[in-house]
Amino acid sequence: SWSSVPLAPPDSIFKLSAAYKADDYPQKVNLGVGAYRDDNNKPWVLPVVKKATGLLLNDPSLDHEYLPITGLPEFTSAAAKLILGAESAAIREGRTVSVQTISGTGANHLGALFLSRFYNWNGPKQIYLSDPTWANHYAIFKNVGIEPINYPYYDAKTIGLNFNGFLSSLDSAPEGSVFLLHACAHNPTGVDPTSEQWEKLADAIMKRNHFAFFDCAYQGFASGDLDRDASAVRYFEQRGVPMLVCQSFAKNAGLYGERVGCLHVVGATKDAADRVKSQLSVLQRSEISNPPSHGARLVSLILTDASLFEEWKRDIQTMAQRIISMRKELHRLLTEELHTPGNWDHIVNQIGMFSFTGINPAQCEELVKGAHVYLTGNGRISMAGLNTHNIRYFAESLDKVVRG
Ligand code: LMR
Repeated sequence: SWSSVPLAPPDSIFKLSAAYKADDYPQKVNLGVGAYRDDNNKPWVLPVVKKATGLLLNDPSLDHEYLPITGLPEFTSAAAKLILGAESAAIREGRTVSVQTISGTGANHLGALFLSRFYNWNGPKQIYLSDPTWANHYAIFKNVGIEPINYPYYDAKTIGLNFNGFLSSLDSAPEGSVFLLHACAHNPTGVDPTSEQWEKLADAIMKRNHFAFFDCAYQGFASGDLDRDASAVRYFEQRGVPMLVCQSFAKNAGLYGERVGCLHVVGATKDAADRVKSQLSVLQRSEISNPPSHGARLVSLILTDASLFEEWKRDIQTMAQRIISMRKELHRLLTEELHTPGNWDHIVNQIGMFSFTGINPAQCEELVKGAHVYLTGNGRISMAGLNTHNIRYFAESLDKVVRG
């Protein structure tokens, strides 16, 4: 039996982690998966997370009961304030529904499932995804019967944003279309709209009655500032754009394995929000019953205790600043030392976990096969995989493949 099951290819990102692990070349470099590493290439448990874990372990009232179907209430309400802002009118007026999810992926899935069932589709169920986007977005929407289509985003000529292409697809898409937007630190390109561009995008979305499906996996990671990285989401909420937000704490709290995230749906009225919440509860119940408690307890402690919150902001700065310093160093090595052909300013202009190098698939393959440098075939590198020990090796390897 099962002989007719077609063999699926391995996941394009996690297969790199496995190949890297199996490689015994001493200078191997993993720039595949977006997971933070410290300067010694080690996973980093945030000091604030260590502290919060200690507090939880010593809490005599801690039990292992089920959480409510929609999650730990202290967590979901603090998470909503973190992304929408403490002053958010949608929160104050009870128009926001927040449901705890299995990290950002689970939030994307639950949001997609909800839209698939309840969005007021005018035509076929379709979602507009940036070209390119996180590969998993395609699978997540297809799984719930929503067809992914692309809108122009990245301009290979400038290694920057194709803003006019993006804007014209908002103008020409059928009224009421759903657009997935990366809230900050666009994955995979590291190219974000400026705040003036976000304003124009919001105008176009409002004009056409489109729906904004925000994916926010890197709040704080992009600039080191939680508020700045939430500014597009908050601006859209203030403008009254119909929207939902998928939120992950994998990267900004280093809680990759705990799977702690949240889906926030903003409604026009409290009554609408209550209806949405009732349906999200039904969907959640059939899929996971109740979300896991540990990560939500940790994040809720960090978000609701003033001194832990300050400490978390410092930890986020540590990660963001290390990545920013790697961008500067890589840029310096390529331009000032190696004089690598081409313009490399995008390395310092891009933001967040990833950089889109602009190299082609053949050059990527050469890096993997020839230099034991692991990266996705689209030329994306995880900046977090670079450190003071391996950056020169990487820059030299990149220089070599660029020269051909
Ligand atoms: C990535 O894009 O590398 C990360 O978001 C990890 C993942 O789940 O793919």
